[in-house]
Amino acid sequence: MRIPKALSPRLQNLLLRRFGVYEKVKPAETTPSRIVPEHIEKPDYVLGKLLNTSKKPEIKNEEQIKGMRNSCNVAANILKIIQAFVQPGVSTDDIDELVHILSLEAGAYPSPLHYKGFPKSVCTSVNNIAVHGIPDLRPLQNGDIVNVDITVYFNGYHGDCSKTFLVGDVDDHGLQLVHATEECLNQAINICGPDVPFCDIGFRIHRVAKRHKLTVLPAFVGHGIGKYFHGPPEIYHTQNRYPGLMKPGMTFTIEPVLSHGKENTILLEDGWTVITEDGARAAQAEHTVLITEDGAEILTK
Ligand code: MF3
Ligand code: CO
Ligand code: CO
Repeated sequence: MRIPKALSPRLQNLLLRRFGVYEKVKPAETTPSRIVPEHIEKPDYVLGKLLNTSKKPEIKNEEQIKGMRNSCNVAANILKIIQAFVQPGVSTDDIDELVHILSLEAGAYPSPLHYKGFPKSVCTSVNNIAVHGIPDLRPLQNGDIVNVDITVYFNGYHGDCSKTFLVGDVDDHGLQLVHATEECLNQAINICGPDVPFCDIGFRIHRVAKRHKLTVLPAFVGHGIGKYFHGPPEIYHTQNRYPGLMKPGMTFTIEPVLSHGKENTILLEDGWTVITEDGARAAQAEHTVLITEDGAEILTK
């Protein structure tokens, strides 16, 4: 097929199916924020007394590490339960309800809820939504990919993880994107350990993505995590010069976002939803890791 050069990029992409076969989504109508009972301990930003985090990455003691293990376990368990629930016909708002209830049942607060004004208990990003999708009433469709990003605040600590799920039968482009994104995360975790530069993570992810002919979206970084949701260090997922070395007792997330297309993204008027500019799909995977004496441990396994 000959594609006339004068066609708009949208039509060119459509005719070439350059990024695979999928529905481009936009935010839809949703339900009100869910309610958290009194007895659930709330994080600083909900209570209006913001924690001040130090400028340097924190080195956690045994007690703090125990707190991180517990919160990360809760987050990872909820993500596992969600897996079987992600099916055609289920809306991302249904996923929000499930994450909300499972968090409360575990005695945890769903960290996204009212974080800097985010209205829901989880982030759900479908197809061309890169990150921070707000759960809504659109039923998931066969062929969608959806990232579910779960963070909980449990006993004074946040635990953060995400995974991109396949809804029914996903086309080959989509499968490859999701699998390559997981490979990027795993390879990045494998190089972590004492005295490894933070910036090595980005170089490794860039290399793996390039081998798969995929693009790392540079706008999104991993982060230190603890009693605070986001703190130092910043973890870049592509080539960078961020200074500093990993040390035992540090906990941070790695959360690369990959796409078939260009690296540009657009923040929508809701102030949260970020879409790819070219409409290509994006996938993300995230773990919270702990640097140990001889490597790194995945706390959200
Ligand atoms: N969980 C996301 C992260 O990985 C942050 C979401 S912020 C929210 O850092 F407000 F959108 F929830
Ligand atoms: Co997250
Ligand atoms: Co995170």
